[in-house]
Amino acid sequence: MDEKKKVMLSGIKPSGDLTLGSYLGAIKNWAERAEQFDCYYFMADLHALTTRQNPADLRRRTLEQLAQYVACGLDPEKNTLFIQSHVHAHAELGWILNCYTMFGELSRMTQFKDKSKKNADNINGGLFTYPSLMAADILLYQPDYVPVGDDQKQHVELTRDVAHRFNNLYGETFKIPEPYIPKVGARVMDLLDPTSKMSKSDDIGNGRIVLMDKPEDIMRKFKRAVTDSETGEHCVRYAPDEKPGVANLMQIYAACTGKTYDEIEAEFTGQGYGAFKIAVGESVVETLRPIREEAQRYMKDKGYLEALCRTGAEKAEYIANKTLRKVYKKVGLVAAVR
Ligand code: TRP
Repeated sequence: MDEKKKVMLSGIKPSGDLTLGSYLGAIKNWAERAEQFDCYYFMADLHALTTRQNPADLRRRTLEQLAQYVACGLDPEKNTLFIQSHVHAHAELGWILNCYTMFGELSRMTQFKDKSKKNADNINGGLFTYPSLMAADILLYQPDYVPVGDDQKQHVELTRDVAHRFNNLYGETFKIPEPYIPKVGARVMDLLDPTSKMSKSDDIGNGRIVLMDKPEDIMRKFKRAVTDSETGEHCVRYAPDEKPGVANLMQIYAACTGKTYDEIEAEFTGQGYGAFKIAVGESVVETLRPIREEAQRYMKDKGYLEALCRTGAEKAEYIANKTLRKVYKKVGLVAAVR
């Protein structure tokens, strides 16, 4: 019955904590995608190795991220959720596609250039060939759509070029995927610097809320959130250019409560920022509470997580291996007889 659904695939690098920004801006809308698409999501642990990781942290974060996605509503019965390194075909096709991706193409990737600047002491081969592995991640599943942010569009373009190149050499093998621009939910900004996005990997922490933050930490951060110096009856009003801090808080409050900006303005008429910030903090605490509790439950239940990973990897492997076998044959590798 899933036969006619279009396929969608995305990888998420376990290199940082999930924030309120990624939840309200994106993940919150992913549960409903499964009705329309056949969705694959994997934790891109192999990609995380391109920058130096603490092994224990990487292991914990990979599982935590998976648990958090499920807690955010990604139903493992309706989506295929797995860990990249569990499906060997990724690394295998990654090698093959390395041989069909040009040095010049890889040299032009802006993410490679940025990351080489940031990690000048560790410009390793994996950082350079990252896009070939990403192409393999994608092409193995023959997806129609790859939802990515702006920073990854260039990699999807390269994936399409590599797929075309391969298809031209060997005949139709890979479906050419389209980048998918997801419907954006709230665009949540840093609480202390409301002109920049709430980032995943900013370690300072006081301007960003992560999904696992305790209620008291959430409240503390919201009480310190930057607003402006306006006073008077109507200081809580939506004017993003003039009052970015307040607009950000209103946006968060709207996303957590379902209220409109007009309703919020009415609700806080005659009240100062103090009361407003507390209300926003409380709405966030209540939004995140069930997610945090559910993710913690999964993290304690090793059997559940293991079963989840195994089932997901088995489903993924079935599709991935089909593509890999085709590719091996086309490029001239001798079939293994066992
Ligand atoms: N490169 C992506 C990022 O940094 C993660 C990723 C790895 C990915 N493989 C993918 C995304 C395949 C989409 C499809 O965010």
